[in-house]
Amino acid sequence: MGPVPTLDRRLLFVTGKGGVGKTTVAAALALSLAGQNKRVLIAMCNAKERLSTMLGSDLIGPDVRPVRPNVWAVNIEPERAMEEYGLLTLKSKALYKLLFDNKYVRAFFRAVPGLHEWAMLGKAWWHTTETREDGSLRFDVVIVDAPATGHGLDMLRVPKVITEIVPPGILRRDAEIAWTMFQDPKRSGVVVVTLPEELPVTETLELAEALDRELHMPLARVVVNAVLPRLWDEEERASLETLPAPVAFSLPTEGKSAAETLLATGRTRAVRERVQAESIARLTRGLPLAPVFLPYILGDAATPASIEELSRRLA
Ligand SMILES: Nc1ncnc2c1ncn2[C@@H]1O[C@H](COP(=O)(O)OP(=O)(O)OP(=O)(O)O)[C@@H](O)[C@H]1O
Ligand SMILES: [Mg+2]
Repeated sequence: MGPVPTLDRRLLFVTGKGGVGKTTVAAALALSLAGQNKRVLIAMCNAKERLSTMLGSDLIGPDVRPVRPNVWAVNIEPERAMEEYGLLTLKSKALYKLLFDNKYVRAFFRAVPGLHEWAMLGKAWWHTTETREDGSLRFDVVIVDAPATGHGLDMLRVPKVITEIVPPGILRRDAEIAWTMFQDPKRSGVVVVTLPEELPVTETLELAEALDRELHMPLARVVVNAVLPRLWDEEERASLETLPAPVAFSLPTEGKSAAETLLATGRTRAVRERVQAESIARLTRGLPLAPVFLPYILGDAATPASIEELSRRLA
């Protein structure tokens, strides 16, 4: 039996190192799922919001709003999410105020490690359970644009910790239900985004290992983002790399002929293509599933047209 296709799961966590293209991939994935008639929610975790630029929508705040046909988005704020959660479980604004608008209680919650992370994750999870008036699900898929690795992993560790240390009660019950779902490859999966470079590949392999060994969370997909098209074959690369390296910190055009500049540029590109090829080969060897590739976008990748182009590659 092969792995469960990414697109059939209800909850997808998009994570990876800072700046590798997590939000870009979350947006492209949302469009490709929406194109298959799924109702998709993108949940950001208290992010500096750039998704609206990518999707060409109005600013995305803490209230769920439609951003494209079949796509909704929200930027979850932990304090707000806590309050919503309190209201949801206590079912009374007066009781909530009594309990939570109290500086001792607030100080207590600030001191509980991971509670803010749980408030955000818990809200994202809750959206997978949300129904419409006719009883059907409000969203078919919730895509969590998780914080960068490190923080992202810490965040995913939280529900497990809550199930282990919090006394029985509503909070622990919900964390247990959510944690069971997070680990279920039929319902959830982690999408790891990386770049075809040495360090990101090493960290991606470590992340895949931690997900498998420590968290027992299913890896749904690895996306290698911003892959350069190949200009040189291996032989051409090798002969370009025999040229002397351009001197660091001097502009390549300074005091050089056009031909020299072209050669220096070609050599730089050859080195990048070799590193890219080696990184992709190492990643592919080390992963339990085949990665998928997204091209490097020349010009601005954070435009609706670019995101649509990337979404077609993911479909
Ligand atoms: N395939 C691509 N080709 C070219 N540029 C890209 C590509 N993917 C992303 N970018 C650009 O790289 C930058 C970082 O992308 P993005 O914001 O999606 O990364 P991120 O992982 O979400 O970052 P952060 O960790 O800050 O949340 C953006 O300017 C984005 O437009
Ligand atoms: Mg981001």
